[in-house]
Amino acid sequence: MSDLEFFLFLLSSVFALFLIFNVIKAKQNTLNLPPGTMGWPFIGETIGYLKPYSATSVGEFMEQHISRFGKIFKSHLFGGPTIVSADAELNKFILQNEGRLFECSYPRSIGGILGKWSMLVLVGDMHRDMRIISLNFLSNARLKTHLLPEVEKQTLLVLSSWKDNSTFCAQDEAKKFTFNLMAKHIMSLDPGEAETEQLKKEYITFMKGVVSPPLNFPGTAYRKALNSRSTILKFIERKMEERVWKMKEGRESLEDDDLLGWVLKHSNLSKEQILDLVLSLLFAGHETSSVAIALAIYFLQACPTAVHQLTEEHVGIVKAKKQSGESPELTWDDYRKMEFTQCVINETLRYGNVVRFLHRKAIKDVRYKGYDIPRGWKVLPVIAAVHLDSSHFDRPQRFDPWRWQNNGGSSSSSGATVNNNYMPFGGGPRLCAGSELAKLEMALFIHHLVLNFRWELADADQAFAFPFVDFPKGLPVKVHRHTLNH
Ligand code: HEM
Ligand SMILES: *[C@@H]1O[C@H](CO)[C@@H](O)[C@H](O)[C@H]1NC(C)=O
Ligand SMILES: *[C@@H]1O[C@H](CO)[C@@H](O)[C@H](O)[C@H]1NC(C)=O
Ligand SMILES: *[C@@H]1O[C@H](CO)[C@@H](O)[C@H](O)[C@H]1NC(C)=O
Repeated sequence: MSDLEFFLFLLSSVFALFLIFNVIKAKQNTLNLPPGTMGWPFIGETIGYLKPYSATSVGEFMEQHISRFGKIFKSHLFGGPTIVSADAELNKFILQNEGRLFECSYPRSIGGILGKWSMLVLVGDMHRDMRIISLNFLSNARLKTHLLPEVEKQTLLVLSSWKDNSTFCAQDEAKKFTFNLMAKHIMSLDPGEAETEQLKKEYITFMKGVVSPPLNFPGTAYRKALNSRSTILKFIERKMEERVWKMKEGRESLEDDDLLGWVLKHSNLSKEQILDLVLSLLFAGHETSSVAIALAIYFLQACPTAVHQLTEEHVGIVKAKKQSGESPELTWDDYRKMEFTQCVINETLRYGNVVRFLHRKAIKDVRYKGYDIPRGWKVLPVIAAVHLDSSHFDRPQRFDPWRWQNNGGSSSSSGATVNNNYMPFGGGPRLCAGSELAKLEMALFIHHLVLNFRWELADADQAFAFPFVDFPKGLPVKVHRHTLNH
């Protein structure tokens, strides 16, 4: 190539680049993207978005962006251009159009740690198959026959270890309860046994990695969590092989009392798939509901009228059982009578927001309320922002269980319709598979808590969103045993 040729080549390349750039720019200009700022190159505004804030607020980042740009804005988060939505209608639209316009899209680090077969990251047919298994396993029928007695047993086990006038971290106790329950229900592990305790220890390391930056270097929390992941998987695998041997030797028929037995008997998932399913159910079912219980303990401690009304409800249930000569174990009918308790549960999830936002991406070019959402962009429905929005919930900064007695918490005067802007469990085809179990756990825990204890904060603590919700001091409480006349 002569110098001249090279020069012409260079010139035409520059010209071509210029043209391409302008075409892209023209396209972006014809697009009506929501307002917003993209922040720094690559990291965008991620650091501001993830800055911890009080769990009963939407946080400074959301507050400032909503007041500047409105409830739908663009940003650059988790490594890509993003549409953030605090808009109730758009959030519903996103969740309802899963698989058609939008698709679940968690950051790759989550897939790395929960596994590529985890329900949280799967999409399409494979997600549907795994979901059917989970729903079968968490069905209402199983809730009534298997789960309810187990939930009560595990509640009593934790509460009976609380000494009168003692001080401890309520969040740890709630975690113990939900972990024991899931370990029992998924793999028939009994609390207190050496292998259960060992698994719990590994699991704590694992959890720290799920919520830490995905830096895979020696010594980081993420690397340690990956190691814990393989230890836990080996453990589950051993359990699985034990079952299969026992069955082959004909010593035992394959029981389907727990999830492991159930998938071995009723599905033809590969070993790898079963391991990821078990691990992700342990994760989904343990972290969330323990935080929800800790939040209830926290909110109730500041709301004596609600505790009083709860106590009346639960003393009433126990009295009625005694009078009719029933055995003291709670039944499904007793659970159905816990009406005010359901209000407390709804209000706890509205105000505390265990899950703040979901990860999605647009799989088609979408137009919504005049805005364009380009294909491939990340989309974050911030479900917490709707729950704390005064246009949907009257005085959202008040813990007010009674709002659920009138019109499902709706601030409008539309009457007795349930507030359909309330979605603590997500929505659409990926609605939480364990929502009924979570409510059952909360209700039975509250039942035995108010019947047997008074409690107060032993040290000031507060729920923060990191964005996963956590009490920095572990929610230290002091408890006093009481026996009510029942
Ligand atoms: C208060 C407690 C809980 C809250 C707030 C909660 C919240 C959620 C939310 C918001 C989602 C949707 C995620 C998304 O769309 O990307 C979800 C999914 C899921 N949850 Fe829960 N959850 C709770 C308890 C549980 C429990 C006890 C289980 C039982 C094992 C469970 C199992 C699942 C599963 C399997 C999924 C995935 C569903 C799917 O992808 O089809 N959750 N949860
Ligand atoms: C707990 O404190 C109360 C009141 O201070 C007292 O009456 C009770 O005996 C204490 N219980 C125990 C087990 O120390
Ligand atoms: C089991 O595998 C076969 C073939 O691989 C498939 O056709 C069938 O639908 C699977 N059954 C279940 C319950 O997944
Ligand atoms: C609690 O919220 C659910 C929606 O998740 C709703 O169906 C139910 O009616 C609410 N309960 C009460 C007591 O308002």
